[in-house]
Amino acid sequence: MIADVLIIGTGISGLSFAIKLAECNSEISIVLISKDQVSEGNTKYAQGGIAVVSDFEKDSFQKHIQDTLTAGAGACNPEVVKFVVEEGKDRLKELITWGIQFDKQKRSLHLVKEGGHSEKRVVHYKDHTGLHVQEALINKIKSFQNIQILENHTLVDLITDHHSEKKYNRCYGAYVISKEEESILKISAKITALCTGGAGSLYAHSTNPSIATGDGLGAAYRAKVHMDKLPYVQFHPTALYPKVNENTFLITEAVRGAGAKLRNCSGEYFMKNYDPRKELAPRDIVARAIQKEILKQEENFVFLDCSDITIETWKKQFPNIYTTCASLDIHLPKDLIPVVPAAHYFCGGIEVNSASESRLKGLYAIGECSSTGLHGANRLASNSLLEALVFSHRAALDVINALKSELPDPTFYDALPEWKGDAYSNSVEIKEIRQLRIQLQEIMTHHVGIFKTKEGLMKANLEMFEIYKKVQKIYNQHKLTNGMCELRNMVSIAHLIIQQAQSITTNKGVFYNHDYA
Ligand code: SIN
Repeated sequence: MIADVLIIGTGISGLSFAIKLAECNSEISIVLISKDQVSEGNTKYAQGGIAVVSDFEKDSFQKHIQDTLTAGAGACNPEVVKFVVEEGKDRLKELITWGIQFDKQKRSLHLVKEGGHSEKRVVHYKDHTGLHVQEALINKIKSFQNIQILENHTLVDLITDHHSEKKYNRCYGAYVISKEEESILKISAKITALCTGGAGSLYAHSTNPSIATGDGLGAAYRAKVHMDKLPYVQFHPTALYPKVNENTFLITEAVRGAGAKLRNCSGEYFMKNYDPRKELAPRDIVARAIQKEILKQEENFVFLDCSDITIETWKKQFPNIYTTCASLDIHLPKDLIPVVPAAHYFCGGIEVNSASESRLKGLYAIGECSSTGLHGANRLASNSLLEALVFSHRAALDVINALKSELPDPTFYDALPEWKGDAYSNSVEIKEIRQLRIQLQEIMTHHVGIFKTKEGLMKANLEMFEIYKKVQKIYNQHKLTNGMCELRNMVSIAHLIIQQAQSITTNKGVFYNHDYA
């Protein structure tokens, strides 16, 4: 298969990037790959919303910039923060002109506050903004003839000079595996965009769906594309405890913005002991405080006391959380919600420029899999959908130009080789893959989570190497499967996180090593 542009991932980044390109030029052929159904992915689970300055009487770009820089703990790129915050307003307008609605109060947008924000500025649709935006974008995508969607296909590897006799020092597309037939398809493309999200599944508790296995990051690693800040994994302070149907369920930070307070199992409101902003301190501070209380009290969770939020607000603003809690016999607002921190967001990733292009020509990374410089050492709440919108717009403008420039001729793309590593017919047992995946998650959770130590990282390094050897052996001797692809990516990214974490000697933002405290 040959395309002008191959987009891997169908969250807000992939979908809005595809729409922009298709709107600009109906002649461009676009292939959009979705690992599951087109609707599955991290965006769908984003409850909070999009941080955008819209009430200029109370708020300003400067305040949003400052909040982002403060949350990022001095590690953001200030130029990037400035343009993202300033361009957010136009991107939001665009979503609204595409017919996407957000909650309103009288005739203005209803704005909420989340941790680290000095003003109410998060626009939202009830407590399922991501799902709402994603559904609308999927509907819009269907109106374009030049976008072909391939569902249930997982990225295996990027096609680069390594696969080609002629060397242009570019990315030429990707090999993907179909989940159903487990056959491997070559998709050659002039431009490839990774919109593959993070790798929350490296941890036992994650707000991400199980398909968030860092496939784009793993493929970029094997293609030797530069990545940075990988150990800056953000833990969301409040995921419901225990899991619901084996999935970790998020309790949006907007609930704390609406007045919910944290209490430990002895009933104490503990956030005052950690930060003057209490429940609305940036996420890293709140997550660490909760984890400390959990360890101190030898419990598995703390509580969110939501008794100050009226039942009307629950039903209107947080209907999804309200009904999920009710189904577990937690009746809001009177009952306490048990919560734990859970792996939520990768602040680092594939290093990109201001148009979202990586250091490998022709390879773009947009959204969570990228490292743009916006988040620094800790992402400000609801800045992720904003980043995805701003960078997919910038990337689309850049790609339109890039397609007009001199590129390898079509015969070169035709001649790229098919996938070569498929000589084996025996598949590895699913049970074995699952066991290795659980072991990997245990190592990451125990040694590479919210709190780290030098000794823990050393142990993690040795244990992860054992898993890596087993995974390599299976990979070298068996037919490739979807589960194997995921595990291969997970082990690569886990290894990279541990290695990079061992070289960080200063605690900043979400990165915390007891030995450097
Ligand atoms: C939340 O709603 O708390 C999550 C939103 C985000 O991660 O920005």
